[in-house]
Amino acid sequence: MDKIEFKRHRRLRASASMRSMVRETHLRPEDFIYPLFIVEGDNKKNEVTSMPGVYHISLDKLQQEVQEIVSLGIKSVILFGVPEEKDDCGSGAYHDHGIVQEATRVIKKHQPDLLVVADTCLCEYTDHGHCGLVENGNVQNDPSLELLVKTAVSQAEAGADIIAPSNMMDGFVAHIRKGLDEAGFTDLPIMSYAVKYSSAFYGPFRDAANSAPQFGDRKTYQMDPANRMEALREAESDMEEGADFLIVKPALSYLDIIRDVKNNFNAPIVAYNVSGEYSMVKAASANGWIDEKAIVLEKLTSIKRAGADLIITYFAKDAAKWLKESN
Ligand code: PBG
Repeated sequence: MDKIEFKRHRRLRASASMRSMVRETHLRPEDFIYPLFIVEGDNKKNEVTSMPGVYHISLDKLQQEVQEIVSLGIKSVILFGVPEEKDDCGSGAYHDHGIVQEATRVIKKHQPDLLVVADTCLCEYTDHGHCGLVENGNVQNDPSLELLVKTAVSQAEAGADIIAPSNMMDGFVAHIRKGLDEAGFTDLPIMSYAVKYSSAFYGPFRDAANSAPQFGDRKTYQMDPANRMEALREAESDMEEGADFLIVKPALSYLDIIRDVKNNFNAPIVAYNVSGEYSMVKAASANGWIDEKAIVLEKLTSIKRAGADLIITYFAKDAAKWLKESN
């Protein structure tokens, strides 16, 4: 009988040492950006019902929280404010003593090396829950830009290290870049939510941030999940306008988009592993249906393999702990 030729791929999988030697993708705690939800008042650390393990934290509890984050080797946090008062123009977003501005000051005082990414949006601060100014039921692009610039500059003045505009108004990177430069923050980078889909995976976040739109939806400003080429147009204009990082959001249903953006643009790519993607894992593991640790590390590895350089994830602390244990 003729010898049948074939390749022996199993040679490189034969032992743990061999597998580790040929492994192509590695997770590090430095890859993770950990989201924090900051609330007003004192002595609060309340779990978000739809996101077990994620908390609303008041300013006085922040020092302890960031101490733990730093001890795990995580280099950055992204801040979301959950204010008690809201109005139609989201003025809490650009108040000098707004919740995110104050949280930034606390963090930079206690952990100056921990990078603070400020999410720059109005939806947590508007009573209608939209990301910009509303007139006759429409979200207004250009008038909203002015408020976003004010928000970014006040975040910069409070000590934020990176500005992350997420509201999906056209031209936000150009306007924020100009506003930051004029205020003297020429060296402050912009991490743009360049490719942000109108996604049902944001559901639990809107509970956490109390930011669900009170009428309509976000489909006139966030992207259609069916579109791929549009992601390149969004990323291209943000790069031209001066973005330093590009975010793709959500992550897991959009791994193809992460790869497209990585292949086409020369900037650090950030994937946002969003709330719905977190809660699904938490629910299944609470039921004993999946192995949480294995699933989470596999998902995060997949996001990096797809092309993300950094991952915004609610699993940051858990993953950093697990990585530490396995070393
Ligand atoms: C908008 C913003 C949202 C998220 C991050 N920034 C909500 C939205 O666009 O509706 C969602 C993040 C998540 O689901 O984890 N400020």
